[in-house]
Amino acid sequence: MFLPQWRLSVRNLVNAITKQSQQKQRQFILKRYVAEYLRYRPLLETAPIREAIEKMRLPGYPYCHPEEGDLLYLLLQEIEGEACLEMGFHTGSTALYMSNAVAARDGRVTSVCLDVGKDATRGKKLLSDNGFSARHRLIQINSNRAVPELFLANEKFDFIFMDGWKTLDHLMMELYYINQMLRTGGAIVFDDSFMPSVRAAIRLLKRYYGYTEVDYKMYRQTKKLRLFQILTSRTLYRPYRALIKSVDTEAQIPIRDWHFYRPV
Ligand SMILES: C[S@@+](CC[C@H](N)C(=O)[O-])C[C@H]1O[C@@H](n2cnc3c(N)ncnc32)[C@H](O)[C@@H]1O
Repeated sequence: MFLPQWRLSVRNLVNAITKQSQQKQRQFILKRYVAEYLRYRPLLETAPIREAIEKMRLPGYPYCHPEEGDLLYLLLQEIEGEACLEMGFHTGSTALYMSNAVAARDGRVTSVCLDVGKDATRGKKLLSDNGFSARHRLIQINSNRAVPELFLANEKFDFIFMDGWKTLDHLMMELYYINQMLRTGGAIVFDDSFMPSVRAAIRLLKRYYGYTEVDYKMYRQTKKLRLFQILTSRTLYRPYRALIKSVDTEAQIPIRDWHFYRPV
């Protein structure tokens, strides 16, 4: 059949668009299939925590992801932690994971934050709705004051979650005190560990203070999850990292040797 030139061009255009949209559809299906295959399967034990968070969830707020929450939960079981400290509170989601994990041992969680008003009441409600108010202490001042005060009050912790202000100087200031408040065998977990400042803080703890990084596969951090994280964050740096304090404070080189200095 003879078709005028303009109709041929329209037909070619329609064909090209159809082909392109079929290709996009195929890519979309493939992406969904891969995402479903790599999707993290959370712990059954932590299902009530996820449900409680889901009930309160507001879009755009920094809720703890199930895989990170499970790491906090399992690590706390492993080290038999009781006293927890966190920098950053906001939604209360990480405080809820920690409170749940230490409840059986009558443990406590302290959160330091700058959140006030609505930003803090939502997190407080999350904890009180789940019966954890009595186990939780909220310190709403800058950590540059709160952390030295906890140190001077001779407080000790088994577990510390770092998710507050993450400039290098601020982290180093916090770590100076936190290292001494954390008991040997206790754990410290850093959120946003892809950030250069957080990576430098971790290097310092590992190289000079004798901290050891956990074996992630022991805490459900599977190869599949790792691949998912790499593909979605487009970086090889882990989104969160956990270390164990393996050397007593008095035996750590920078504490013993006043000539000690190495760049981080
Ligand atoms: C990413 S949010 C923490 C999210 C929290 N882990 C959760 O589960 O929702 C960062 C937190 O750091 C706190 N923060 C930031 N700078 C701070 C500072 N200098 N002192 C104390 N808290 C600080 C904020 O108030 C906020 O609660």
